[in-house]
Amino acid sequence: MRILILLFAFFLFAQCTPPPPIPTGVVSKNAMVVSAREEASKVGTAILQKGGNAFDAMVGTELALAVAYPFAGNLGGGGFMVYRKNDGNIGALDYREKAPLAAHKDMYLDSLGNVIPGKSTLGASAVGVPGTIAGIFEVHDKFGTLPIKEIMDPVIKLVDQGVQVTSKQADRLDKYWDQIKSVNGESTLFYNKCDAGDTLRYPGLASTLRRIAINGRDEFYKGKTAKILAKFILEKGGYVTEEDLARYEAKWRQPVVFNYKDLRIISMSPPSSGGVTINQIFKMIESYDISEFGHNSAKSIQLFTEAARRAYADRNFFLGDPDFVVIPLDVLLSKKYLQARMENFSFDSATLSSEVQHGRIEIMESNETTHYSIVDQMGNAVSVTTTLNGAYGSKLYNDELGFFLNNEMDDFSAKPGEPNMFGLIGAEANSIAAEKRMLSSMTPTIVEKDGKLWMVVGSPGGSTIITAVAQTILNTYEFNLSMQESVNAPRFHHQWLPDHIVFETEGFSDALKIELKSKGYHISEKPTPILGKVDAILVLPDGSLEGGADKRGDDTAVGF
Ligand code: GLY
Repeated sequence: MRILILLFAFFLFAQCTPPPPIPTGVVSKNAMVVSAREEASKVGTAILQKGGNAFDAMVGTELALAVAYPFAGNLGGGGFMVYRKNDGNIGALDYREKAPLAAHKDMYLDSLGNVIPGKSTLGASAVGVPGTIAGIFEVHDKFGTLPIKEIMDPVIKLVDQGVQVTSKQADRLDKYWDQIKSVNGESTLFYNKCDAGDTLRYPGLASTLRRIAINGRDEFYKGKTAKILAKFILEKGGYVTEEDLARYEAKWRQPVVFNYKDLRIISMSPPSSGGVTINQIFKMIESYDISEFGHNSAKSIQLFTEAARRAYADRNFFLGDPDFVVIPLDVLLSKKYLQARMENFSFDSATLSSEVQHGRIEIMESNETTHYSIVDQMGNAVSVTTTLNGAYGSKLYNDELGFFLNNEMDDFSAKPGEPNMFGLIGAEANSIAAEKRMLSSMTPTIVEKDGKLWMVVGSPGGSTIITAVAQTILNTYEFNLSMQESVNAPRFHHQWLPDHIVFETEGFSDALKIELKSKGYHISEKPTPILGKVDAILVLPDGSLEGGADKRGDDTAVGF
């Protein structure tokens, strides 16, 4: 009898569980790299094919993005990596930029206390101490298996060959050319008006990379490169000195780890807000059967929006560099607290953001970051998001070194507690201080299912990174979309303030928006072609890998 009952239960379960989705992205058996450019995915994959591991491939992919995708790939910026080794060990690396020693709370304010337009966004005064080279060497020292020269050789070859400009890239270059020219002058060696199909070259970059390949990380922080860089930034009116470069260190951090139903989600901890904020969102929606509501239905959008509204209110108020501010993570991530946060939620009507506490703080972040995901043939996984902050960072380009410098200082709150030049208000926890790291939204994430590696995921997109990553995980887990479908699916965003839902231009019907409006939701009228640009990898039931390379960009999955 018992056997019969068990068989019946099994039969019922088999009937109710939908079959896994048919992959629609690139599928490979052993290993994969998904990044913003085919050239970078190929460099990473070639390193894996040579027998390197995911960490070796991370070093190559990161540097190749600086060549093929200078919009966000960088030597002059910073980032975060989350990893999961094939034995289940996890960790996170923070190579976020830091404020220089000369930085202080009021550095972007005039004598009347007003924010000086452009000072934290454009040119040398916006530059934070770069972390990327320290980051990749930290990873290589701890986990690398191939010699650094062997990893960097294909990147140097890519620089020597130049990179073919895609049509999307040509549009971006066109859009920002006037600013690049205004910061660097007409004679800048970068660009020279490329059209799609032309070759983009960086005369100085190959020499810089060759010196780094020979002399290691100290070349960038203490060697000839450091001297050229600091002199250049100071001459151009910035603050980063040789001492700042010499003092820079990447830091290993404990990732944020939480369960959502039968998933275990591993994401980036402060100074990124990504892990904490998606942890709050997932825990606030966990008790609902969101898959029953339907993908991008009014009910699932309401639930997600209300969780995001509350999570971003906390994000903006409480989060900053954990080396400088005390963050009450035990409370913010506790079940009791998060349940209480959702007590006033109802499907009947929207909660107004003005009624959600930690108030009157709004964030403004740039979209121009880049993410890549790697799984190697041994089952190690890395998830990396890296940035210059704005498009081509501060736009400041050093001809001799061949790379752009970040404008990450703008991710601090220039004037905590009061509106900045955009009419936005920042929080004290993220105020500027010497050697502090500015708050980020980057959310490199790895997900386990049944104790095994299941997904590697992340996105660019400033404050929209967090919702893009969360929706991608839900698309696959709750709505049974393939990895590529999950990445391509239309996205929406709410970040507490401004109190409106932003929908991508394509993919949401007028009827849906009317229904949400009738419940009191405000909907942004500004056309928003894209929210995030996700690059992800899913481990399929047979152990092969499906890439999700976002159709919104030139993103490409390469595997073998
Ligand atoms: N600059 C983008 C971010 O860190 O969130």
